[in-house]
Amino acid sequence: MTRKKVALVTGATGVVGRNLIEHLCNLGDWEIAAVSRRKPEVACGVRHIPANLMDSGDCAAALGGLTDITHIFHCAYVEMPTRAAMVQPNLAMLANTVETVERSSRGLEHVLIMQGTKYYGSHLGPFKTPAKEDDPRHAPPNFYYDLQDYVSKRSAGKSWSWSAPRPHAVIGFAVGNPMNLSTVIAVYATLCKDLGLPLAFPGTDASYNALYQCSDAQLLARSMVWMATTPECANQAFNIINGDLIRWKNVWPAFARFFDMEAAPPCAMNLATSMADKGPLWKKLVARHGLKPYAYDEIVSWPYGDIVFSTGHDIISDTGKARRLGFHDVIGTEELFLQVFESYRKNRVIP
Ligand SMILES: NC(=O)c1ccc[n+]([C@@H]2O[C@H](COP(=O)([O-])OP(=O)(O)OC[C@H]3O[C@@H](n4cnc5c(N)ncnc54)[C@H](OP(=O)(O)O)[C@@H]3O)[C@@H](O)[C@H]2O)c1
Repeated sequence: MTRKKVALVTGATGVVGRNLIEHLCNLGDWEIAAVSRRKPEVACGVRHIPANLMDSGDCAAALGGLTDITHIFHCAYVEMPTRAAMVQPNLAMLANTVETVERSSRGLEHVLIMQGTKYYGSHLGPFKTPAKEDDPRHAPPNFYYDLQDYVSKRSAGKSWSWSAPRPHAVIGFAVGNPMNLSTVIAVYATLCKDLGLPLAFPGTDASYNALYQCSDAQLLARSMVWMATTPECANQAFNIINGDLIRWKNVWPAFARFFDMEAAPPCAMNLATSMADKGPLWKKLVARHGLKPYAYDEIVSWPYGDIVFSTGHDIISDTGKARRLGFHDVIGTEELFLQVFESYRKNRVIP
């Protein structure tokens, strides 16, 4: 008889967690407990457990009664102003979750932690490309290292294993998530169009021309279930990327066509500064087009766009390792962006 699989997904309202929950629901053979402080907006019926994972007491009270968790998918994440400040809260959320579940669920088999291309220092400047999973670490702090060291040490001699996907720029339908390039582009285009402006690339020439990569949130979700349930993947990390590379200059015209605008060359603006005063305009657009009334600062994080569009070096990960072990999914990045823009339109997030 196959054992029942019970997933505990933290970060259920995040772009990664939300798409994973939808995938697990579609698979049909998982029970799912979804953890986040806010209630997740997912189509399928999952058990939502509100908890502040940063607080060990709150975490133990909320999760301590779960006796049948087999897989933890740890997608909770908190952004902090510095790299050093990221370590303690992100490590605390993981440790509180794992240690609570270890005590109550004797059948725990696997803990998946999230990482990303920042593992290779992609956020610090040019790095060795294509990046491979066993490339040397850069000088810390990097909270991904602390998370990996924690699960590696904690799982030693236990019945559970760990894995870590390393995506880059996760693209998928989600609203209210800071690291979401698709909402940055969609809201920026909507505002420019209303102002009668062409769709200028809001970044540097170097970024417009550099090679870049993204990860479809659904493809990522499939890879997460694959690596968490494939014994050969145990205790390893995997680069999980769409499978193609883009240059913004090549995809920008298709984005302009989608929004029915003229594409324009790079205009090295600072989105956080330039878009700071556009909240009232967004509010008018919401009313005029009958859009869902998300607050301006809830729908888009301009500083995240500024980071991406000022990255002047190539971002490339080697995906051979996941392929060699059996994960072959690919998707075209331009097509993915257009699909996600369309889903924002259908869901009345943009006109
Ligand atoms: N997004 C990307 O492009 C990308 C790329 C590479 C790697 N990653 C990695 O993937 C992971 C997930 O990223 P994401 O983009 O999905 O993050 P996100 O959209 O910012 O979501 C973060 C999640 O963490 C939850 N959370 C935060 N603080 C919490 C707390 N104190 N207690 C309980 N839950 C808390 C939030 O839920 P509530 O606020 O509702 O509690 C939310 O569900 C991160 O480790 C990130 O580094 C992401």
